[in-house]
Amino acid sequence: MPNLTRRTLLAGGTLMLLPLPGRLFAQGPASGRIEALIARMTIAEKAGQLSIFPDNLRTGPDVVVNPEMKAGKDAMEAKLRAGGVTGLFNGSGVAAGRRLQQIAVEETRLGIPLIFAADVIHGWRTIFPIPLGEAAAFDADLAQRTARASAVEASALGLHWTFAPMVDIGRDQRWGRVAEGAGEDVHLANLLAAARVRGFQGRRLTDADAMLACPKHMAAYGAAEGGRDYDSVELSEATLRGVYLPPFKAGFDAGALTTMSAFNDLNGVPATANRKLLTGILREEWGFRGLVVSDYTSDAELIAHGFAEDGRDAARLSILAGVDIAMTSDLYNLHLPELVASGAVPVAVVDEAVRRVLRVKQAIGLLDDPYRSLDAGREKRDVYLPSAQALSREAGRRSIVMLKNEGGVLPLAKRARIALIGPFGADKANVYGPWAFPRDDRGVSIADGLTRAGASFTTVKGCDVEAPIAGGIEAAMAAARAADVVLLAVGETANMSGEAQARSLIDVPKAQRELADAVAAAGKPVVVLLRNGRALALEGAVRGAPAILVTWFLGTQTGNAIADILFGDHGPSGRLPVSFPSGPGQQPFYYAQKTTGRPRPPGMMPEFTTGYRDAPNDALYPFGHGLTYGQIEYGAVTLGAPRLAWNGTLTARARITNRGTRAAEEVAQLYIRDRVASMTRPVKELKRFERLSLKPGETKEARFTLTRADLEFIGQDERWIAEPGAFDLWIAPSAASGTPARFMLDRA
Ligand code: GLC
Repeated sequence: MPNLTRRTLLAGGTLMLLPLPGRLFAQGPASGRIEALIARMTIAEKAGQLSIFPDNLRTGPDVVVNPEMKAGKDAMEAKLRAGGVTGLFNGSGVAAGRRLQQIAVEETRLGIPLIFAADVIHGWRTIFPIPLGEAAAFDADLAQRTARASAVEASALGLHWTFAPMVDIGRDQRWGRVAEGAGEDVHLANLLAAARVRGFQGRRLTDADAMLACPKHMAAYGAAEGGRDYDSVELSEATLRGVYLPPFKAGFDAGALTTMSAFNDLNGVPATANRKLLTGILREEWGFRGLVVSDYTSDAELIAHGFAEDGRDAARLSILAGVDIAMTSDLYNLHLPELVASGAVPVAVVDEAVRRVLRVKQAIGLLDDPYRSLDAGREKRDVYLPSAQALSREAGRRSIVMLKNEGGVLPLAKRARIALIGPFGADKANVYGPWAFPRDDRGVSIADGLTRAGASFTTVKGCDVEAPIAGGIEAAMAAARAADVVLLAVGETANMSGEAQARSLIDVPKAQRELADAVAAAGKPVVVLLRNGRALALEGAVRGAPAILVTWFLGTQTGNAIADILFGDHGPSGRLPVSFPSGPGQQPFYYAQKTTGRPRPPGMMPEFTTGYRDAPNDALYPFGHGLTYGQIEYGAVTLGAPRLAWNGTLTARARITNRGTRAAEEVAQLYIRDRVASMTRPVKELKRFERLSLKPGETKEARFTLTRADLEFIGQDERWIAEPGAFDLWIAPSAASGTPARFMLDRA
């Protein structure tokens, strides 16, 4: 792996003084303290330190309890008092947290503090755009800032650890969890994984507003067959190491001390029992010294996988593979004492897992201050901060991707008579998106945003998300006829995205397509506002509308962010982090594909070449695509030299001009292609990007520097290598545009 840490961080964001894992776990008094503690622990107490559960001990609006855990409150409290719980997750609130911590510290034999965790994926009270939407901003600094704001708010509510960032590469949009990641591209995913870890963890892990990060789900969960959640994954070692693992490494290199094992089977061995992955690669190759938590009962699910005989076998396989904490299953409490007594699991293995857990609790200051982050004053001060609202609105704006704007329909004049049509026009229930536990009605709908912007509009739902409404189309057409312009708010609900929400066809539901077709017949300009947690296959009048904005799930400030773009107070600057395919059957689809031995010329469908007889190979809208209110022109690529010395650097530049009358934020992207190598290589790979603010008429130079490390790939020996030879290089506005320049990498 190239010097990913420094290059990645420098290429994508501020390099902060990071709490490197080694320093955190330096030998010294603290580790003596941990060893002394371990020496005193019974095997039952050791198993307890390796067991985390959904928080069913709190009541009130803060708690999101998984249904199956609603019972068993008394049993859980008894388990806690017996030292059988290392932490609880998805409950928050200081008063309840203090009460539970007091039980752990004062009423258990050893007084080891609990760790409080949650799925703070894109905010906890103030909600930010879903991670896939935020990835469209192509801005590591923004991702770091929203993670930081999320950590400030969640830690003010008594949380220490977030089960984020989700760093799974998402190349099959049928998979609902593409919403939680950074999309299809490795370089962008690496940068955002590192940025989000830095954001969550802040400057010092012992700070009260620092949250432990947890790059998840290790590993290759996004490559599930058919895009079906939890389904099997079969990957070559080269693809596993070259595509799916790098974002994890980027997260650990940025200082993450925890990770989560995935549900899926990986090449025949379920990830949660995959010692080669969780110990061989993670610890022995990468030197990871943090802890591994299983995903929710993923250890017990080894039985369903047909990989474990029973719960005892599943516990044995997980702990021996390298899973330190069992989530929800209770298998470690139930079986580790006997497994150790019988010799099936060496006590040293359990001790090492306990050591890792205690070191992490020590690293965040819990062993010194069990009431860290349980401060009622901060809970009053640091939640729903105005700065967080402003950041959510900024992130929302920056996440919006303008796919098309024929005839300059956008930006709208505020005095325009608008018909806001579709199931998401006035909707507030779906502005947060998946993995946001809405406890409030602070979400700003599109209608709210138009109202606050002073626009004059009528709102007609027209249809439900997946069903027509009697008279809905007629009302919508009447509203369209009476308006100057139609805003058509269509797409997916929050629960059509996220975990367990794979869709076999990634289309806009039929009832909404019919509404769109009818409204288009009214003959007024239509601006589509897509609400989506994945790339969608656009068809009919949705596809044919003169203007399309991809608005994802933008969080609390949804309506304000959309209004900011619609009326031109800010220009759209987002770029697609996932390819929008030509049709719903074109999955998996991603730009960094292999050329094959029978490549098909773009757009054509000649016989005996790779591709479908009924669809082109091209994306409808490619990775990296996004329009601005400017008119952007790219000059030719200029290389500093035609050759890159083995240990040298190569500069690549292009002049970019805004020929339009409005300012624009352009994202210039640098792609390479290795023309010949000892492994087949993708037709393009993103290696750099740069945001350029361009006033009307302004020209700026995008300038990049590459080294050999940028050209490395996983060779046949499963190691990172570079090979001399010819490369193409583009500086372009998307993965499907631009004219390449050629350079040679010299021999060593
Ligand atoms: C879920 C998810 C995981 C989450 C965990 C705890 O099943 O797979 O991402 O962190 O359980 O809620």
